[in-house]
Amino acid sequence: MKTAEYFQNKARLSDANDSLAHFRYRFENTDNHLIYLDGNSLGRMPLVTTQLMENVIQNQWNDRLIRSWNEHWVDLPKKLAAKIAKIVGAREDEIFVGDNTSVNFYKLAFAALQFQKDRTKIISDNLNFPSDLYLLQGLIENSYTNHQLQILESEDGISMNLENVAAALDDQTALLTLSQVVFKSAFMYDMKEINLLAHKHNALVLWDLSHASGAVPVHLNDSNADMAVGCTYKYLNGGPGSPAFLYVRKDLQQSLASPIWGWFGHQKPFTFDLNYQPETSIWQFAAGTPGILSLAALEPGLDLLLEAGIENLRMKSVAISSFLHEMFEDILEPLGYSMASPKNPAQRGSHITLKHHEGFRISQAIIEPKNGSKVIIPDFRTPDNIRLGIAPLYNSFNDIYECVLRLKTIISEKEYLLFDNKMTSVT
Ligand SMILES: Cc1ncc(COP(=O)(O)O)c(C=O)c1O
Repeated sequence: MKTAEYFQNKARLSDANDSLAHFRYRFENTDNHLIYLDGNSLGRMPLVTTQLMENVIQNQWNDRLIRSWNEHWVDLPKKLAAKIAKIVGAREDEIFVGDNTSVNFYKLAFAALQFQKDRTKIISDNLNFPSDLYLLQGLIENSYTNHQLQILESEDGISMNLENVAAALDDQTALLTLSQVVFKSAFMYDMKEINLLAHKHNALVLWDLSHASGAVPVHLNDSNADMAVGCTYKYLNGGPGSPAFLYVRKDLQQSLASPIWGWFGHQKPFTFDLNYQPETSIWQFAAGTPGILSLAALEPGLDLLLEAGIENLRMKSVAISSFLHEMFEDILEPLGYSMASPKNPAQRGSHITLKHHEGFRISQAIIEPKNGSKVIIPDFRTPDNIRLGIAPLYNSFNDIYECVLRLKTIISEKEYLLFDNKMTSVT
């Protein structure tokens, strides 16, 4: 049995040898009073964001007013798309930035079903984010009334066997849609393998990258991915409700048409032509005026990720999550915690989910300690999942060391009994 001192020394040594450690100080509030392990829900704010937003609000909006469209704003979405493209392994003319993940998912799922007119089967899984499944249910109810949705069941609630996916695919399959990294357990699909399986049947695949982009290397082009969507407020540090992105492989762009025919998707919006002529590029997926303030706030987070390098970040993420796993086995497992993420780091993204039957009260005790302990913020997903997000740009090995010791004390000292089981609206 290793001692707490052993783990503390290991954390110190690993942090001292971490060549990315300095990126932590490029974010706000990374003092030692708060340990933030919720970058998988809402990433921290980069330091330069405040100054940048002051410029956008004061100089661009307040002083220059509408002249800023031509001076700064009109090309901003494309500039950001080029940066996101590098993070997800795509070409810059394959990425649209704007709207939110759910709306982008709707656009692409609708377009894919329209393109695959003769096929009526849609496949997803029960590890997927509910919004994606709701959107598919809505598409079937409102537009594609002959289609059926098959939801693959995970056997352990954590991962999915590729054989199950392979067995479900057939020549009636129009669309397969999965999260590359699933939101509860962080199980990671092999994107290339799944694309291959689906393409054997000429089925299209729509990937949700919300928990993957910025967390793991994503290779959309190299894995021959058809379509993808993703949010930017998690590991891309774009801010609450920051614009999402969508990807369509270049050679498919002529075949997939956006169902939302807004003026920003028109070839020449400022001719005010009364007939719709869609833009021929990926920007046909634009609908209305882009949200410039939230687009502007997205850039610093992308720049930090690109500067650090996604492969370097992945190496650090795996090292930290492996350290967490090691501490879990020695310290937390004997106290009734279990691990609800794959044990093999190659099969998981950048968060680790721990389960405990007192999960909700434990997460309250760790976030709002009543005994002066340091505040630690993970997130909680029903019924009993405590998700620990590892954002390698700003998390350290010591963050994990301190978090595990708190999780231990909350149970061993029965601190969780000071909290009730009433849930707040956002967890
Ligand atoms: C995997 C996944 N997909 C979709 C969404 C929904 O994103 P949005 O709120 O941008 O529509 C989320 C939100 O957290 C998510 O985690």
